[in-house]
Amino acid sequence: NKKITIAIDGFSSTGKSTLAKELAMHLGYVYVDTGAMYRAVAFFAMQKGFIRKDFFDKESLIKSLPNIKLVFKFNSDLGFAEMYLNGINIEKEIRTIEVSNFVSLVAEISEVRSKLVEQQQEMGKNKDIVMDGRDIGTIVFPDADLKIFMTASPMTRAERRFKELQKKGDKVTFDEVLKNVEERDYIDTHRDDSPLVKAIDAIEFDNSNVTKQEQFEKVLKLVKF
Ligand code: C5P
Repeated sequence: NKKITIAIDGFSSTGKSTLAKELAMHLGYVYVDTGAMYRAVAFFAMQKGFIRKDFFDKESLIKSLPNIKLVFKFNSDLGFAEMYLNGINIEKEIRTIEVSNFVSLVAEISEVRSKLVEQQQEMGKNKDIVMDGRDIGTIVFPDADLKIFMTASPMTRAERRFKELQKKGDKVTFDEVLKNVEERDYIDTHRDDSPLVKAIDAIEFDNSNVTKQEQFEKVLKLVKF
């Protein structure tokens, strides 16, 4: 088989990571969740006090970027990789609503993006990779062999995210989750550097009304070696 690169982009909570993980597992590929990397940088900024409600010291974050080391380590019990920031597993910490509320502000910064994009391109240089994010088919791997663009209505997405957070015991209201989904959509599609946009050669999927299984099968048919 030819080695290929699969890029999956789209709005938040469209089921990108579920699809990407399943594809990677099925094909025996590496899966990379680039959202986890932006979340890790946001978590770092929060820990250092560079960002909090109505305050963001961007310059200090930019100066500290060389001190951020991000590594994915495969957890064979879970069947996927977990995010490590400077040697510490932060997989749980980066999934909170607080991190979700700051991450898009951090992801607007060009210096943050170029650092992470460089690392993502390095991870994908041997291909056989499924990567999900916002700019994978446009910026990270413009030559990807297969590009998928996922959408779903904001309501559907907020409901999914709300259920996920509730299951984890996060005390969050539905309105707060919906507001976060809408705010991130806005910032992600309007930023100057690498805004979320469908690549011209990406295939669009609206998964508001399809099951995970149906979607997986449809996408698998598009994988050509
Ligand atoms: O995919 P996830 O929802 O975890 O991504 C969190 C945030 O990280 C997004 O809302 C976006 O602001 C940012 N992001 C990005 N580029 C990527 C992946 C994520 O800007 N490739």
